[in-house]
Amino acid sequence: MSVFENREFNGHELVTFGNDGPTALRAIVAVHSTALGPAAGGCRMWPYASTDEAITDALRLSRGMSFKNAMANLPFGGGKAVIIGDSRRKTPQLFEAFGRFVDTLGGLYITAEDVGTTTTDMESVAKQTSFVTGLHRRGGEFGGDPAPKTALGVYLGIKAAAKFRWGRTDLAGLRVAVQGVGGVGYHLCRLLAADGAVLRVADVRSTAAERVRDELSASIVPVETVMYEDVDVFAPCALGAVLNEHTIGKIQARIVAGAANNQLAKDADGVSLQAASILYAPDYVINAGGIISVTREYLGGSSEAQVSAEIHAIGERLTEIFDKARRENKPTNVVADRLAQERIETAQNRLVA
Ligand code: NAI
Repeated sequence: MSVFENREFNGHELVTFGNDGPTALRAIVAVHSTALGPAAGGCRMWPYASTDEAITDALRLSRGMSFKNAMANLPFGGGKAVIIGDSRRKTPQLFEAFGRFVDTLGGLYITAEDVGTTTTDMESVAKQTSFVTGLHRRGGEFGGDPAPKTALGVYLGIKAAAKFRWGRTDLAGLRVAVQGVGGVGYHLCRLLAADGAVLRVADVRSTAAERVRDELSASIVPVETVMYEDVDVFAPCALGAVLNEHTIGKIQARIVAGAANNQLAKDADGVSLQAASILYAPDYVINAGGIISVTREYLGGSSEAQVSAEIHAIGERLTEIFDKARRENKPTNVVADRLAQERIETAQNRLVA
């Protein structure tokens, strides 16, 4: 087992392992960078086949959080936790033990929900540490489930992309294929439908797709072919790595803009999208609405209107990336990565000076 030699190791500041016998907790926290502030990022629970696989995921995801937080202008660095295990067998006690583990880091890392963990799990974590966010909404405060906030950012990102690509200021009649209509996809469909977009949706859970069909007059299309529909926009809102050497050549949409994390199987797939004249909205820029919401919930002191204004800036940020990419003839993911890295390095230099 190696960390420093791992292909995803990228100058991470800290990787630490937590074990709790009674609850069978096995967790890893990776802190990529604290240059911009404490490392924030969700906790993923997944039945990793090996510890190496879990380390690799924690390293990759925590670096992604550094970029995401930097591009969202949040006062946080990047970190991530992974719990090795099947989320169908999780218990409140397991998350309390995880909370104690997070607390030992003294605020260097702040956790929240991610794949396999929920707001309820974070409530268990909060019994043992204050370094947690993404808790249930309390009274009139914002916060709570980040999915609708993520959906708002993706909707604004699609609008920015449509304006950039076609000079359109409205979405009436725009054909959008949405892959995955769960927490984010469902709310995204509602926003798009309210603007007159024509929806085609696919979900492995037929009830989720049927709900969008019944409520929003969407057409249901097969899960296997939703990516290749003859539409204007493809919005991946389910899985990662859907943009790869096997799929990109078959995509008919001219814009790819959705919520899923790590949409590109590898960085070079951004070059293929550019070559295919597909405008790609970098995932960690367009899907930052949720992290903006949970961050402001954690820090306190912001109003719902301020959070909404921050999420609205996602559209402008994407337009800046699209402009730069066009001027420099570079893939949009390369431009976004460079901007994020510059922000982190500037903060690092300030710390050293
Ligand atoms: P979710 O689990 O609520 O929804 C995902 C939906 O995709 C489910 O309905 C699932 O049945 C469906 N699905 C799974 N495999 C599929 C396939 N092969 N084809 C079609 N549908 C499939 O998850 P959520 O919260 O909506 O997140 C969606 C994506 O956005 C994930 O990649 C997540 O990591 C990412 N994301 C979510 C954020 C949030 O605030 N919830 C924030 C940032 C990113």
